[in-house]
Amino acid sequence: MKHLLSAADLDRDQAIMILDTAAELASLTDRSVKKLPTLRGRTVVNLFFEDSTRTRISFEVAAKRLSADVINFAAKGSSVSKGESLKDTALTLEAMGADAVVIRHNLSGAPHRLATAGWIGGSVVNAGDGTHEHPTQALLDAFTMRKHLRNGSGDLDGVRVGIVGDVLHSRVARSNVLLLRTLGAHVTLVAPPTLLPLGVETWPCDVSYDIDSVLPRLDAIMMLRVQGERMHDAYFPSALEYSRLYGLDSARMARLPEHAVILHPGPMNRGMEISADVADSPRSLMVEQVANGVSVRMAVLYLLLGGMKEND
Ligand code: CP
Repeated sequence: MKHLLSAADLDRDQAIMILDTAAELASLTDRSVKKLPTLRGRTVVNLFFEDSTRTRISFEVAAKRLSADVINFAAKGSSVSKGESLKDTALTLEAMGADAVVIRHNLSGAPHRLATAGWIGGSVVNAGDGTHEHPTQALLDAFTMRKHLRNGSGDLDGVRVGIVGDVLHSRVARSNVLLLRTLGAHVTLVAPPTLLPLGVETWPCDVSYDIDSVLPRLDAIMMLRVQGERMHDAYFPSALEYSRLYGLDSARMARLPEHAVILHPGPMNRGMEISADVADSPRSLMVEQVANGVSVRMAVLYLLLGGMKEND
């Protein structure tokens, strides 16, 4: 496998290999010297056309922990603002010898274009494209759930996950549905009808408009950010009504089974999709998700650049 563009690129064995590798690499964090020489001499370019805190920094930390050289490229402040195209940007990076390009772009499909157009020879990793996919987020979410919920039979088989909120604009939701299904989990999407994408009935999951009926049977709940910056219409009457009908507050948290965990990909809108007391509760795993993101992204870079074979 050369690129990671979609959670659907991974069969079950490959997904588990990444998660198992991440678990091994996670032990590095406890050491005083947190570096491996594995990618010495290789160059990883972080090509970010859209804002990011967690993903960009964790890819940088991951590549550096594997001893790769890292080039951070942000569209703001680059020649993209003078009108330079994705193609010319890619050719420039290729000329500088990129072995892997980690790309975030506001346009769905940009990573696929970069991987297939022949502009670069290295691996392409999708770090979030438009409203389409964010496969490494899904991997770190699965890694986190696996640590807390893994059942005796091996993985997330039969685990029940609710993904709640702005599914329409969420690349995290799509990648999670695809990966969790591959890993045997059962996903229910919960959202108002206006925040569900066309064709959602073909996704491998259930759909509900009623969070309260879903809560008592979940092992994990993932709250999605309401993506105001992608909304050019009124999708709900007011923030107050949205949070009353779909937000996770302490009353709703109390209706979850005792063992159930709470995830959010970040950044959070506190007081909107999640109340501050829930976000700060010991059941919320957001900070751990960020830490796990480094291990998972190390595993992805290690396996792609080290050569993960098809069906390996
Ligand atoms: N979850 C996530 O992608 O966060 P950033 O936008 O901060 O990278």
